[in-house]
Amino acid sequence: MNSSPFNVEQFPHILVLGMGGTIAGLAPSPEANPLLYQAGQVGVEDLLSQVTKVLPQDLKIISKQVANINSSNLSEAVLTELGKLVNHYLKSSTLIGIVITHGTDTIEETGLFLQTTCGRAAEKLGKRVVLTGAMLPSNAPRADGPANLIAAIHWASTSVDNCPGGIFAVFADKVCMARDLAKRHSSTLNAPLQDSPSSAIGLINPSWLSDVKAKQAALGDDLPIPEALHWPWVEILTSHAGARGEIVMQCLGAGVSGLVIAGTGQGGFNSAWQESIDKAIAAGVAIVRATRTGAGSVRPNIPENDPVGCMAAGSLSAPKARIALQLALNAAKESKVKGGPQQPSWQDYFAKQALF
Ligand code: SIN
Repeated sequence: MNSSPFNVEQFPHILVLGMGGTIAGLAPSPEANPLLYQAGQVGVEDLLSQVTKVLPQDLKIISKQVANINSSNLSEAVLTELGKLVNHYLKSSTLIGIVITHGTDTIEETGLFLQTTCGRAAEKLGKRVVLTGAMLPSNAPRADGPANLIAAIHWASTSVDNCPGGIFAVFADKVCMARDLAKRHSSTLNAPLQDSPSSAIGLINPSWLSDVKAKQAALGDDLPIPEALHWPWVEILTSHAGARGEIVMQCLGAGVSGLVIAGTGQGGFNSAWQESIDKAIAAGVAIVRATRTGAGSVRPNIPENDPVGCMAAGSLSAPKARIALQLALNAAKESKVKGGPQQPSWQDYFAKQALF
Protein backbone atom coordinates (compact mmCIF):
# COMPACT_ATOMS: atom_id res chain seq x y z
CA MET A 1 0.00 0.00 0.00
CA ASN A 2 1.24 3.45 -0.90
CA SER A 3 0.28 5.93 1.81
CA SER A 4 2.51 8.83 0.72
CA PRO A 5 0.45 11.87 -0.31
CA PHE A 6 -0.72 11.81 -3.92
CA ASN A 7 -3.13 13.70 -6.11
CA VAL A 8 -6.38 11.71 -6.02
CA GLU A 9 -7.49 13.27 -9.29
CA GLN A 10 -4.51 11.74 -11.05
CA PHE A 11 -4.03 8.30 -9.54
CA PRO A 12 -6.39 5.31 -9.38
CA HIS A 13 -7.13 4.67 -5.71
CA ILE A 14 -9.28 2.94 -3.12
CA LEU A 15 -11.25 4.93 -0.55
CA VAL A 16 -11.71 3.43 2.94
CA LEU A 17 -14.50 4.98 5.01
CA GLY A 18 -14.43 4.36 8.78
CA MET A 19 -17.70 4.01 10.67
CA GLY A 20 -16.42 2.39 13.90
CA GLY A 21 -17.62 -0.95 15.30
CA THR A 22 -15.73 -3.84 16.85
CA ILE A 23 -13.17 -3.74 14.04
CA ALA A 24 -12.17 -0.41 15.62
CA GLY A 25 -12.75 -1.66 19.17
CA LEU A 26 -10.32 -1.88 22.09
CA ALA A 27 -10.39 -4.31 25.01
CA PRO A 28 -8.73 -3.18 28.28
CA SER A 29 -7.54 -6.79 28.94
CA PRO A 30 -7.51 -8.40 25.51
CA GLU A 31 -5.74 -11.58 26.62
CA ALA A 32 -7.98 -12.21 29.62
CA ASN A 33 -11.29 -11.16 28.09
CA PRO A 34 -11.38 -10.05 24.44
CA LEU A 35 -15.18 -9.93 24.53
CA LEU A 36 -15.20 -7.13 27.12
CA TYR A 37 -14.38 -4.07 25.01
CA GLN A 38 -15.57 -0.76 23.64
CA ALA A 39 -16.39 -0.47 19.94
CA GLY A 40 -15.35 2.54 17.85
CA GLN A 41 -12.08 3.52 19.54
CA VAL A 42 -9.42 3.25 16.80
CA GLY A 43 -9.30 5.56 13.78
CA VAL A 44 -9.53 4.17 10.25
CA GLU A 45 -6.00 5.47 9.46
CA ASP A 46 -4.64 3.31 12.29
CA LEU A 47 -6.62 0.27 11.13
CA LEU A 48 -5.05 0.71 7.69
CA SER A 49 -1.56 1.11 9.11
CA GLN A 50 -1.91 -2.37 10.70
CA VAL A 51 -2.35 -3.98 7.27
CA THR A 52 -0.07 -1.79 5.14
CA LYS A 53 2.69 -4.37 4.82
CA VAL A 54 0.55 -7.03 3.20
CA LEU A 55 -1.23 -4.83 0.66
CA PRO A 56 0.22 -4.42 -2.85
CA GLN A 57 2.90 -1.71 -2.66
CA ASP A 58 1.55 0.16 -5.68
CA LEU A 59 -2.06 0.29 -4.40
CA LYS A 60 -3.00 3.84 -3.46
CA ILE A 61 -5.47 4.25 -0.62
CA ILE A 62 -7.13 7.25 0.97
CA SER A 63 -9.32 7.13 4.06
CA LYS A 64 -11.99 9.21 5.73
CA GLN A 65 -13.51 8.85 9.18
CA VAL A 66 -17.28 9.24 8.81
CA ALA A 67 -18.13 8.14 12.37
CA ASN A 68 -16.51 6.08 15.10
CA ILE A 69 -19.44 4.55 16.91
CA ASN A 70 -20.86 1.34 18.25
CA SER A 71 -23.22 0.61 15.38
CA SER A 72 -26.10 -0.02 17.77
CA ASN A 73 -26.13 3.80 17.93
CA LEU A 74 -26.31 4.22 14.15
CA SER A 75 -28.50 7.19 13.28
CA GLU A 76 -30.37 8.15 10.14
CA ALA A 77 -28.27 11.35 9.94
CA VAL A 78 -25.07 9.25 9.73
CA LEU A 79 -26.65 7.08 7.03
CA THR A 80 -27.47 10.22 5.05
CA GLU A 81 -23.87 11.41 5.33
CA LEU A 82 -22.48 7.99 4.35
CA GLY A 83 -24.81 7.60 1.37
CA LYS A 84 -24.00 11.08 0.04
CA LEU A 85 -20.26 10.43 0.39
CA VAL A 86 -20.51 7.09 -1.41
CA ASN A 87 -22.54 8.62 -4.25
CA HIS A 88 -20.12 11.52 -4.51
CA TYR A 89 -16.88 9.50 -4.52
CA LEU A 90 -18.25 6.81 -6.87
CA LYS A 91 -18.39 9.47 -9.60
CA SER A 92 -14.65 10.17 -9.38
CA SER A 93 -12.97 8.80 -12.51
CA THR A 94 -9.85 7.79 -10.53
CA LEU A 95 -11.75 5.92 -7.80
CA ILE A 96 -11.44 2.14 -8.17
CA GLY A 97 -13.68 1.12 -5.28
CA ILE A 98 -14.79 1.87 -1.72
CA VAL A 99 -14.36 -0.13 1.50
CA ILE A 100 -16.43 0.70 4.58
CA THR A 101 -15.40 -0.53 8.03
CA HIS A 102 -18.60 -0.86 10.11
CA GLY A 103 -19.97 -2.39 13.29
CA THR A 104 -21.68 -5.72 12.65
CA ASP A 105 -24.73 -5.10 14.84
CA THR A 106 -26.55 -2.91 12.31
CA ILE A 107 -24.45 -3.58 9.21
CA GLU A 108 -27.46 -5.20 7.54
CA GLU A 109 -29.35 -1.92 7.73
CA THR A 110 -26.47 0.02 6.18
CA GLY A 111 -26.09 -2.71 3.53
CA LEU A 112 -29.74 -2.41 2.52
CA PHE A 113 -29.54 1.39 2.62
CA LEU A 114 -26.50 1.56 0.33
CA GLN A 115 -27.93 -1.05 -2.04
CA THR A 116 -31.16 0.93 -2.32
CA THR A 117 -29.58 4.38 -2.73
CA CYS A 118 -26.23 3.74 -4.47
CA GLY A 119 -26.41 0.16 -5.82
CA ARG A 120 -27.47 0.98 -9.36
CA ALA A 121 -24.81 3.74 -9.63
CA ALA A 122 -22.06 1.34 -8.45
CA GLU A 123 -23.25 -1.31 -10.86
CA LYS A 124 -23.39 1.06 -13.86
CA LEU A 125 -19.92 2.43 -13.07
CA GLY A 126 -18.55 -1.11 -12.59
CA LYS A 127 -17.22 -0.24 -9.11
CA ARG A 128 -17.50 -2.21 -5.89
CA VAL A 129 -18.47 -0.79 -2.52
CA VAL A 130 -17.51 -3.33 0.14
CA LEU A 131 -18.67 -3.38 3.76
CA THR A 132 -16.63 -5.20 6.36
CA GLY A 133 -16.14 -5.35 10.11
CA ALA A 134 -15.07 -7.75 12.82
CA MET A 135 -16.38 -9.81 15.68
CA LEU A 136 -13.27 -9.35 17.85
CA PRO A 137 -11.78 -6.00 18.90
CA SER A 138 -8.67 -4.72 17.15
CA ASN A 139 -6.29 -5.64 20.00
CA ALA A 140 -7.65 -9.17 20.63
CA PRO A 141 -5.04 -11.92 20.19
CA ARG A 142 -6.77 -13.44 17.13
CA ALA A 143 -8.49 -10.26 15.90
CA ASP A 144 -10.39 -10.97 12.68
CA GLY A 145 -10.51 -7.31 11.58
CA PRO A 146 -7.16 -7.11 9.74
CA ALA A 147 -7.87 -10.18 7.58
CA ASN A 148 -11.37 -8.89 6.80
CA LEU A 149 -10.02 -5.45 5.88
CA ILE A 150 -7.35 -6.92 3.60
CA ALA A 151 -9.95 -9.16 1.91
CA ALA A 152 -12.37 -6.24 1.49
CA ILE A 153 -9.67 -4.04 -0.08
CA HIS A 154 -8.76 -6.91 -2.36
CA TRP A 155 -12.39 -7.41 -3.38
CA ALA A 156 -12.84 -3.68 -4.02
CA SER A 157 -9.63 -3.32 -6.04
CA THR A 158 -9.29 -6.51 -8.07
CA SER A 159 -11.25 -7.35 -11.17
CA VAL A 160 -13.06 -10.65 -10.73
CA ASP A 161 -14.08 -12.47 -13.90
CA ASN A 162 -17.63 -11.68 -14.85
CA CYS A 163 -18.47 -10.06 -11.47
CA PRO A 164 -20.35 -6.76 -11.76
CA GLY A 165 -19.92 -3.61 -9.69
CA GLY A 166 -22.31 -3.21 -6.80
CA ILE A 167 -22.62 -3.15 -3.01
CA PHE A 168 -21.00 -6.18 -1.34
CA ALA A 169 -19.80 -7.34 2.08
CA VAL A 170 -16.82 -9.44 3.07
CA PHE A 171 -16.37 -11.47 6.26
CA ALA A 172 -14.27 -14.53 7.15
CA ASP A 173 -13.13 -15.17 3.53
CA LYS A 174 -16.67 -14.96 2.16
CA VAL A 175 -18.44 -12.36 0.05
CA CYS A 176 -22.16 -11.65 -0.21
CA MET A 177 -24.39 -8.90 -1.59
CA ALA A 178 -24.66 -6.23 1.12
CA ARG A 179 -28.47 -6.46 0.95
CA ASP A 180 -28.19 -10.13 1.96
CA LEU A 181 -26.24 -9.41 5.17
CA ALA A 182 -28.03 -10.84 8.20
CA LYS A 183 -26.33 -11.07 11.58
CA ARG A 184 -27.96 -14.17 13.01
CA HIS A 185 -25.39 -15.21 15.60
CA SER A 186 -24.10 -13.25 18.57
CA SER A 187 -20.44 -14.24 18.39
CA THR A 188 -19.28 -16.52 15.56
CA LEU A 189 -16.67 -14.90 13.28
CA ASN A 190 -18.79 -15.05 10.13
CA ALA A 191 -21.97 -13.97 11.99
CA PRO A 192 -23.02 -11.19 9.57
CA LEU A 193 -23.28 -13.50 6.57
CA GLN A 194 -23.34 -17.05 7.86
CA ASP A 195 -26.91 -17.70 6.69
CA SER A 196 -26.75 -15.48 3.56
CA PRO A 197 -26.20 -16.49 -0.06
CA SER A 198 -22.42 -16.06 -0.36
CA SER A 199 -19.30 -17.32 -2.08
CA ALA A 200 -15.77 -18.10 -0.97
CA ILE A 201 -13.67 -15.11 -2.06
CA GLY A 202 -10.89 -17.26 -3.45
CA LEU A 203 -13.15 -19.31 -5.69
CA ILE A 204 -16.23 -17.46 -6.87
CA ASN A 205 -19.18 -19.78 -7.00
CA PRO A 206 -20.99 -19.41 -10.39
CA SER A 207 -24.43 -20.00 -8.91
CA TRP A 208 -23.84 -17.20 -6.36
CA LEU A 209 -22.73 -14.91 -9.20
CA SER A 210 -25.89 -15.60 -11.19
CA ASP A 211 -27.97 -14.98 -8.05
CA VAL A 212 -26.22 -11.56 -7.69
CA LYS A 213 -26.95 -10.67 -11.31
CA ALA A 214 -30.59 -11.82 -11.09
CA LYS A 215 -31.17 -9.75 -7.95
CA GLN A 216 -29.45 -6.68 -9.42
CA ALA A 217 -31.62 -6.97 -12.53
CA ALA A 218 -34.80 -7.22 -10.46
CA LEU A 219 -34.06 -4.34 -8.07
CA GLY A 220 -35.45 -0.87 -8.81
CA ASP A 221 -33.52 2.30 -9.59
CA ASP A 222 -31.58 4.00 -6.81
CA LEU A 223 -33.93 5.89 -4.48
CA PRO A 224 -33.16 9.40 -3.20
CA ILE A 225 -31.28 9.74 0.09
CA PRO A 226 -33.48 11.50 2.67
CA GLU A 227 -32.03 14.68 4.19
CA ALA A 228 -30.53 14.00 7.64
CA LEU A 229 -33.50 15.18 9.69
CA HIS A 230 -36.25 14.27 7.25
CA TRP A 231 -36.38 10.50 7.36
CA PRO A 232 -39.96 9.27 7.75
CA TRP A 233 -40.54 7.85 11.25
CA VAL A 234 -41.00 4.09 11.03
CA GLU A 235 -41.02 1.76 14.05
CA ILE A 236 -40.73 -2.02 14.32
CA LEU A 237 -43.26 -3.81 16.53
CA THR A 238 -42.82 -7.49 17.39
CA SER A 239 -45.93 -9.62 17.70
CA HIS A 240 -45.84 -12.07 20.61
CA ALA A 241 -47.95 -13.99 23.10
CA GLY A 242 -50.01 -11.52 25.08
CA ALA A 243 -49.59 -8.66 22.55
CA ARG A 244 -51.72 -5.60 23.33
CA GLY A 245 -53.31 -3.19 20.87
CA GLU A 246 -52.36 -0.19 23.03
CA ILE A 247 -48.79 -0.27 21.74
CA VAL A 248 -49.99 0.21 18.15
CA MET A 249 -52.28 3.05 19.28
CA GLN A 250 -49.37 4.71 21.10
CA CYS A 251 -47.29 4.64 17.90
CA LEU A 252 -50.25 6.04 15.98
CA GLY A 253 -50.75 8.81 18.56
CA ALA A 254 -47.02 9.65 18.46
CA GLY A 255 -47.23 10.32 14.72
CA VAL A 256 -45.38 7.46 13.02
CA SER A 257 -45.53 7.31 9.22
CA GLY A 258 -45.02 3.57 9.06
CA LEU A 259 -44.92 0.38 11.10
CA VAL A 260 -43.01 -2.80 10.33
CA ILE A 261 -44.51 -5.79 12.07
CA ALA A 262 -41.93 -8.42 13.02
CA GLY A 263 -44.67 -11.01 12.86
CA THR A 264 -44.93 -14.63 13.85
CA GLY A 265 -44.38 -17.31 11.20
CA GLN A 266 -45.29 -15.94 7.77
CA GLY A 267 -45.72 -12.40 9.06
CA GLY A 268 -48.91 -12.87 11.06
CA PHE A 269 -49.78 -10.92 14.17
CA ASN A 270 -51.82 -11.38 17.33
CA SER A 271 -55.48 -10.63 16.62
CA ALA A 272 -55.45 -8.33 19.67
CA TRP A 273 -53.74 -5.88 17.31
CA GLN A 274 -56.30 -6.09 14.49
CA GLU A 275 -58.51 -3.18 15.48
CA SER A 276 -55.58 -0.82 16.10
CA ILE A 277 -53.78 -1.89 12.90
CA ASP A 278 -57.01 -1.17 10.96
CA LYS A 279 -57.14 2.28 12.59
CA ALA A 280 -53.47 2.91 11.69
CA ILE A 281 -54.12 1.96 8.03
CA ALA A 282 -57.21 4.19 7.94
CA ALA A 283 -55.03 7.05 9.28
CA GLY A 284 -52.59 6.55 6.36
CA VAL A 285 -49.83 4.76 8.29
CA ALA A 286 -47.90 2.39 5.97
CA ILE A 287 -47.80 -1.17 7.31
CA VAL A 288 -45.28 -3.84 6.31
CA ARG A 289 -45.45 -7.44 7.56
CA ALA A 290 -42.06 -9.14 8.10
CA THR A 291 -41.23 -12.29 10.08
CA ARG A 292 -39.54 -12.54 13.45
CA THR A 293 -38.34 -16.08 12.62
CA GLY A 294 -34.97 -14.87 11.26
CA ALA A 295 -35.17 -16.55 7.86
CA GLY A 296 -37.48 -17.07 4.89
CA SER A 297 -39.69 -14.70 2.92
CA VAL A 298 -43.03 -13.16 3.75
CA ARG A 299 -45.26 -13.41 0.71
CA PRO A 300 -48.14 -11.10 -0.22
CA ASN A 301 -51.62 -12.30 0.80
CA ILE A 302 -50.31 -15.29 2.76
CA PRO A 303 -51.74 -16.62 5.01
CA GLU A 304 -54.56 -14.07 4.57
CA ASN A 305 -55.26 -11.30 2.07
CA ASP A 306 -53.39 -8.08 2.86
CA PRO A 307 -55.63 -5.04 3.24
CA VAL A 308 -54.84 -2.01 1.05
CA GLY A 309 -52.11 -0.05 2.85
CA CYS A 310 -50.35 -3.19 4.13
CA MET A 311 -47.56 -5.00 2.28
CA ALA A 312 -45.52 -8.14 2.81
CA ALA A 313 -41.77 -7.65 3.39
CA GLY A 314 -40.72 -10.28 0.83
CA SER A 315 -37.09 -11.22 1.39
CA LEU A 316 -36.40 -8.38 3.85
CA SER A 317 -35.91 -8.90 7.58
CA ALA A 318 -37.74 -6.45 9.85
CA PRO A 319 -34.73 -4.06 10.24
CA LYS A 320 -34.11 -4.09 6.48
CA ALA A 321 -37.82 -3.68 5.73
CA ARG A 322 -37.81 -0.65 8.03
CA ILE A 323 -35.05 1.06 6.02
CA ALA A 324 -36.72 0.09 2.72
CA LEU A 325 -40.05 1.47 3.91
CA GLN A 326 -38.46 4.75 5.02
CA LEU A 327 -36.77 5.14 1.64
CA ALA A 328 -39.98 4.19 -0.20
CA LEU A 329 -42.08 6.70 1.80
CA ASN A 330 -39.49 9.40 1.16
CA ALA A 331 -39.32 8.62 -2.57
CA ALA A 332 -43.14 8.70 -2.86
CA LYS A 333 -43.22 12.06 -1.07
CA GLU A 334 -40.53 13.50 -3.37
CA SER A 335 -42.39 12.32 -6.52
CA LYS A 336 -45.57 13.95 -5.22
CA VAL A 337 -43.73 17.25 -4.68
CA LYS A 338 -42.30 17.06 -8.23
CA GLY A 339 -45.78 16.39 -9.63
CA GLY A 340 -46.19 15.14 -13.18
CA PRO A 341 -48.36 12.38 -14.62
CA GLN A 342 -46.60 9.48 -12.89
CA GLN A 343 -46.48 9.55 -9.12
CA PRO A 344 -45.57 6.11 -7.81
CA SER A 345 -46.83 5.15 -4.35
CA TRP A 346 -44.66 3.90 -1.48
CA GLN A 347 -45.91 0.42 -2.36
CA ASP A 348 -44.47 0.76 -5.90
CA TYR A 349 -41.06 1.72 -4.54
CA PHE A 350 -41.11 -0.85 -1.74
CA ALA A 351 -42.05 -3.74 -4.04
CA LYS A 352 -38.91 -3.05 -6.15
CA GLN A 353 -36.72 -3.64 -3.07
CA ALA A 354 -38.58 -6.49 -1.40
CA LEU A 355 -38.05 -9.00 -4.24
CA PHE A 356 -41.08 -11.21 -3.53
C1 SIN B 1 -20.97 -2.66 16.63
O1 SIN B 1 -21.85 -3.08 15.88
O2 SIN B 1 -20.51 -1.52 16.55
C2 SIN B 1 -20.45 -3.53 17.74
C3 SIN B 1 -20.49 -4.97 17.40
C4 SIN B 1 -19.64 -5.36 16.22
O3 SIN B 1 -19.09 -4.56 15.47
O4 SIN B 1 -19.52 -6.59 16.05
